[in-house]
Formats: sequence, structure tokens, C-alpha cells
Amino acid sequence: MDDSIAALPTGTAVPAYPIQFCVNGEPQNIQVEAYVTLLDLLRERLGMTGSKKGCDHGQCGACTVLVDGKRINSCLALAVMQNGKEITTIEGLAQGEQLHPLQQAFIDHDAFQCGYCTPGQLCSAVGLIGEGQASTPAEVRELMSGNVCRCGAYPQIVAAITEVMNMPERKDNPERPYLPGTVPA
Ligand code: FES
Ligand code: FES
Repeated sequence: MDDSIAALPTGTAVPAYPIQFCVNGEPQNIQVEAYVTLLDLLRERLGMTGSKKGCDHGQCGACTVLVDGKRINSCLALAVMQNGKEITTIEGLAQGEQLHPLQQAFIDHDAFQCGYCTPGQLCSAVGLIGEGQASTPAEVRELMSGNVCRCGAYPQIVAAITEVMNMPERKDNPERPYLPGTVPA
């Protein structure tokens, strides 16, 4: 085995590296081992458990957060790569008691059941709107397809997002009308 990748001898401390970044506007200075993901850093070391660990493999989107305004799967991002970055998690979307418009729309449209996927859906929707790539409900569905909802709240999620985007909901596809409680194919 290459000596450079040989396991550390038993009892040897794993090296940690200093990083500085902002989470929801709060500066953080932290020492972190190279293997720690951003998701684990947020949940296990900073106590921000709003971002969820669904699959831990980049498949479900439950861990989605915004890094410098761009949505990423935090389970696939190493914490040491976030030096100097601005991270926004679900805990940072509301302004005090004032919900983010997407949060209010999710409530208004019943866009969740168990709520496990909801933090990731919301952060992803914020990222989607910022990207400016979706101009129809079909494109919203496609660009939200990285976020899985086990409960099947997809129609309500699309309704909530399109409302915030001032987009007529599903008018682009009259052959597939909005059927609350159904999962789009
Ligand atoms: S927990 Fe990150 S994509 Fe599923
Ligand atoms: S609301 Fe339950 S997984 Fe989406």
C-alpha cells in the first residue's frame, strides 16, 4: 500500500483543519477533519438539524442547502471545501417571525405530509428560483426532480413553488390537470 494513504497508527489523532465560513449570517470558525461532510458538520457539530439525512448518497435531496446562493447536496460536499463560503440552511430562510414566501406557500398548499423532505425541497426551490431557468410548471417539476418526497406531495409542492413564481399552475399541460393527492408520473 502507498505509505501516503496508509491507515494512521492506532491512537494517532486524525488531523483537523481550520475553516471559516458563515452559516445563516453567523460567522463560524471551526476545526474539522477532512472526511466530515457539510451535512454532518451542520447537524452534528453546529446543532442545525433542519437539513435532513435521507440517503447520504446524493439521491434524495433531503440535505439540500445553499452555498453562495447555489443549491447543493450537503451530504456530498466536504466541510473543508466550504472555507470562505456563505451557507444558508432551512433555519436561515425565515426572517425572525416572518416566513419566507416559499415557506408560507408550502403551508397554504399543504405541500408536505411527514415533512422530512421539506427543508430540502424549500432550499432547492429557493435555489431554483435564483437560477432563473424554470419558466413553466413542467420545468419546475424537472428542476425539482432531485428532491424526492416519499409521501407524494409533489402536486402541492409544484403548486406552492409556481405560486411564488407567479406562474399559472399546470396551464402548460391541460391533459394532465392538477389532481391533489396524486403523484405525477
Ligand atoms: S441525504 Fe443528501 S441527497 Fe439524500
Ligand atoms: S413530505 Fe414526507 S417525504 Fe416529503
